[in-house]
Amino acid sequence: MTIQRRGEMFFHDADLCFQNWQSCASCHPDARADGLNWDLLNDGIGNPKNTKSMLLAHQTPPSMAEGVRESAEVAVRAGIVHIQFAVRPEEDAVAIDEYLKALEPVPSPYRVDGELSPAAERGKKIFFDEKVGCARCHPEPLYTDNLLHDVGSRGWFTRTDAFVTPTLVEVWRTAPYMHDGKWLTIEDLIKKGGHGGEGKGGDLSGLTEQQLDDLIEFVLSL
Ligand code: HEC
Ligand code: HEC
Repeated sequence: MTIQRRGEMFFHDADLCFQNWQSCASCHPDARADGLNWDLLNDGIGNPKNTKSMLLAHQTPPSMAEGVRESAEVAVRAGIVHIQFAVRPEEDAVAIDEYLKALEPVPSPYRVDGELSPAAERGKKIFFDEKVGCARCHPEPLYTDNLLHDVGSRGWFTRTDAFVTPTLVEVWRTAPYMHDGKWLTIEDLIKKGGHGGEGKGGDLSGLTEQQLDDLIEFVLSL
């Protein structure tokens, strides 16, 4: 029994929760995201947020869309107390940290034999093009600068303009997108939502439909 394995068991065990209501995996299945919005109390009420994946959470502080938790370590302990209403020994939280830190990205099914497709290769150049500007906020290797930005994504229920740049690793499996899950696909996020376009942090003007499709293919391949 390794510490990571113990953490995996705690993460999936509703026995840890007050009246056995739920485990962490109830909302974070497979330590990823259930695709739903939940109104957690850490940033006030009435402003539900889309569940985040646990992949790379410990390497991309601050945590939560509004960055209200300093790190994933803090978020894990807050989850035990405020979501599961439980008091647990520190070693349980450490085991959950170690489990989550051991998660590895699953290669994107958009890849061809593990490599970028020709379209994704073309999209990669666009992503890293300085004029387009995606990589300014989503730099390699984790595709996030870990900073808050106003990218015009404020929604009906939101009370703030700036959100932590999310990592794009495994973004192919974490729809819907943005802090409130407003967009169902990356295509909608870019083409209808204009994310990364003028007034939203970057510059998509001048890109053809084909170039936008290539860019989307690259993002889905991460
Ligand atoms: C009721 C659903 C729910 C349950 C149960 C739940 N979470 Fe979450 N979790 C969320 C949502 C929603 C977010 C995103 C909140 C935000 O962005 O403000 C989140 C975010 C996180 C984050 C921050 C990730 C990041 O990169 O910012 C961590 C870490 C986390 N949860 C760990 C846990 C742990 C550990 C447990 C069990 C103790 C748990 N969660 C139980 C819904 C849940
Ligand atoms: C000024 C900084 C900035 C630039 C430039 C930028 N992004 Fe983002 N990106 C963000 C922020 C901040 C969010 C999260 C906003 C939210 O949650 O409401 C985000 C969210 C995303 C998401 C959704 C991730 C998820 O898990 O919900 C994708 C995909 C994405 N960006 C791709 C791109 C692409 C492609 C470009 C270039 C066309 C780009 N971004 C340019 C800051 C930026």
